[in-house]
Amino acid sequence: MPLIAAATGGTPSRRPVWFMRQAGRSLPEYREIRAGRGMLESCFEAELVAEITMQPVRRHDTDAAILFSDIVVPLRAAGIDLDIVAGTGPVIASPIRTAADVAKMPRLDPSSVGAVTSAIGMIIDELPDEKSLIGFAGAPFTLASYLIEGGPSRTYERTKAMMLAEPELWNTFMGRIADITITFLRAQLDAGVDALQLFDSWAGALSKAQYEEYVAPHSARVMAEVAEYGVPRIHFGVNTGELLSSMTDVGTEVIGVDWRLPLDEAAARVGHRVAVQGNLDPTVLLAGDDAVLEREIDRVVAAGERAIAAGAPGHIFNLGHGVMPNTDAGVITRAVELIHAL
Ligand code: CP3
Repeated sequence: MPLIAAATGGTPSRRPVWFMRQAGRSLPEYREIRAGRGMLESCFEAELVAEITMQPVRRHDTDAAILFSDIVVPLRAAGIDLDIVAGTGPVIASPIRTAADVAKMPRLDPSSVGAVTSAIGMIIDELPDEKSLIGFAGAPFTLASYLIEGGPSRTYERTKAMMLAEPELWNTFMGRIADITITFLRAQLDAGVDALQLFDSWAGALSKAQYEEYVAPHSARVMAEVAEYGVPRIHFGVNTGELLSSMTDVGTEVIGVDWRLPLDEAAARVGHRVAVQGNLDPTVLLAGDDAVLEREIDRVVAAGERAIAAGAPGHIFNLGHGVMPNTDAGVITRAVELIHAL
């Protein structure tokens, strides 16, 4: 599998590429199959999950499928009342803000994500041998931010207030979230995923010192608890240029890089200890100019090659963040062709 080879210092048979949010609204077949069905309920229908996961792989010939799910799926499965609102994101019915709220945090029973693990079985049956299936979960900080704020946030005020002013409560809460994340990842690994990605999408809101003191220990426990499976772990966040080294210390084989930093510079920041994943700006796919697309892909590939020449174990091509919903599916297919042709 090219993706596994690139993640582990091997020689991939071709340059591996997949895109965060490759399954989603950019695909007409996704919009059709999702019509009239809620996002969250769709994540608990095994056949639908398998079909949506396969759609971008069939259409674009990406080297990996990423499980169609969401970071809040295990929270919902554990019994937390929440929904995913189109155009907004996760919304929590009763935000968790006090010691009494934290004490009521449920545990995740792996049987309650049975639809997810069934879907993984179906995907593995259909996926060609050379393509990898990536499982994923939200990291404790990013999940905490939704649970505390009650929904998406720009400033993470309440989250940081708990973190800074009530560190004991914070650590208890983060530990309970980490337990859910570990259970969810282990269920996916037991079902046979080939790699996993831990999404700490919003960790970039933190200073390096805050990340290391209040967040890294919990993410490190998650990574340690899945290490025995021996599958490559990818650790990703947005706006994390200053955190890349700390996020690598947490324990990972691949560091995800957003579009702000060239890959060779990112690789240097982590001492070439791990492979790099990224990092085409998602808006490049919206620019509507093939020459621009080619030039920007070349730029990312060249930086990835410089990273490898300097000692990084490999490069997995991806975007710096997710595919934007109004991206033309044809442009995504074209990008994959260009990347594979280089
Ligand atoms: O193709 C893939 O990448 C796999 C599917 C995937 C989804 N969510 C499906 C989804 C993955 C990996 C996620 C993870 C996720 N969910 C993250 C981490 C990744 C990141 O983007 O940083 C986060 C922060 C969330 C929370 C969340 N869920 C947001 C911010 C949104 C977008 C809200 C919107 O409507 O714009 C969602 C909903 C969501 N998750 C959609 C998809 C395809 C869109 C909803 C829909 O199609 O109706």
